[in-house]
Parts: sequence; C-alpha cells; structure tokens
Amino acid sequence: MKVIIRQNSAEGSLWAAHYIAAKIKEKAARTSEPFVIGLCTGSTPIETYAELIRMVKAGELSFKNVISFNMDEYVGLPVEHPESYHSFMHRYLFDHIDEKPENIHILDGNAKDIEAECAAYEEAIVKAGGFDLFLGGVGEDGHIAFNEPFSSLSSRTRVVTLTQDTREVNARFFDNDPEAVPAQALTVGVATVLSSKEVVILAFGSKKARALQAAIEGPMSHYCTLSGLQNHPAGTIVCDENSISEVKVSSYRYFKAVEAAENR
Ligand code: GLP
Repeated sequence: MKVIIRQNSAEGSLWAAHYIAAKIKEKAARTSEPFVIGLCTGSTPIETYAELIRMVKAGELSFKNVISFNMDEYVGLPVEHPESYHSFMHRYLFDHIDEKPENIHILDGNAKDIEAECAAYEEAIVKAGGFDLFLGGVGEDGHIAFNEPFSSLSSRTRVVTLTQDTREVNARFFDNDPEAVPAQALTVGVATVLSSKEVVILAFGSKKARALQAAIEGPMSHYCTLSGLQNHPAGTIVCDENSISEVKVSSYRYFKAVEAAENR
C-alpha cells in the first residue's frame, strides 16, 4: 500500500486528478480499449472531479473512451432526488465532461428485481473488461462504498442495510434528519473494488483519521472494510495532514520517505 500525504484536501485532490488523468492518457496511447473506472460520491471527491473537469474543458483530457461504474446508490430514492447518487454524479462530473451517456453506469436503487440488478452490474463490469482504476472515499467508520463494518471482504454487488452511524453522518444532506436517509443501499462489494487493477482512496480531514489508522496499521478485518486494501497489489491512499494524524510517527515518516525516494 502506498500513502500519499499532502498538506490539505486541495493539494491531495490535485494529485489524485492528475494521477487519474495520466492513467487514462497512458492507456489511450497504448490501446484503443476503453479505460474502465470506478467512481465514488461524497464530499471528498468533489475537488478531484473539479480538476478533471478543468482538464477536459482545457482540452488536456478526454473521457470519450472511458467507461465508468459508480460504487453505490440508495435504495428507493427517486433518481431525480437532489441527493441521489445519480444526481450527485451528474452535478459534479458527468454534466461537465465528454463521457458518452451509454458509458455511464450507476446502480438502479429503484429496480424491481434488486438481486438481478446487482448481478447484471457485476456482469457489465466484466463485459467492459474489468476496472483499470477504482476511485473511492472512506466513511468515518472505515467503510468503503457502502460496505459497512462486518461486510465480508469477499463481498460483491448487493443490497445492504446502512448503520445508524452512517445515516447520522449522511443526514447532513437530508435536512439533518437521519430518518430521511434511506435505510438501504445497493453497493459494489469489497471484492468488486479490489478486483480493480488499481485502487485509489481519498481521505481528507480529521474525521477520517481513525478510519485511516485502522485501515493502514490495524489488522485486515471486516470491522474496517477499507483494510481489505492491504491485500491489494496496487492500493494507494491519498490523504492530508489531518486525516493521517492518528498513524504512528514512524509510519508517517516511512510513507513520506517512500514518496521522496520515488520522486528523486
Ligand atoms: C458514503 C459513501 C461512500 C463515501 C462516504 C464518505 O458512505 N457511500 O462512498 O466514501 O460516504 O463520504 P464523504 O466523502 O462525504 O466523507
């Protein structure tokens, strides 16, 4: 696992956006096959998306040959609800880039047959060629996508029940009413994320510090599903000084030293 530490979320987001753009361009230079990316919602990726949008508008980057799959969506929330992850993704990314509408995939939380929807999603990912890169965030309790504590690290796309903690944290988007946050969601599994050739996780701010400490230094455990990243050959956490503040000084110094050595 690599840990990239920046002063703040703005610098971390710039790093992530430029890293993703470089990966998209690198694949485009070598093959006509599409770049398949997993995308996340939440407040964390917004600055990364803004920089990707800037690059597309400046003609420095194109999503024409990119296929995306979002990691999760609430169950039962109308697609047009401002806090649906469909709305979020269009507001903060898709409406401003040149990705083809048919290449955008987001789980349908209103599907009549939810199990069939989840199975079809996994099949569509395989049909697209599998993920080149999965961009994720992390919940305060260490959850990745909506894989709450005690989700199997081998889990795949399925319906899950959200913890009260997650509903309370996400209540800020629903007039501060946890009961207004849908109780269930569809989510890719931990194993779906880890099936990607590469995984990049963004985590900024002191609220994420305990989750990062557990994921980086703790045991690999279903209690903190981001810890599954320890078993991935190409996992990177992009964080800031606040979110990395709970790891040991020796761990912090090691991550800094690795990056300095690689940039030499
Ligand atoms: C939700 C999403 C996660 C996201 C998390 C953190 O639980 N399902 O994918 O990582 O929120 O959100 P934020 O970035 O707003 O802290």
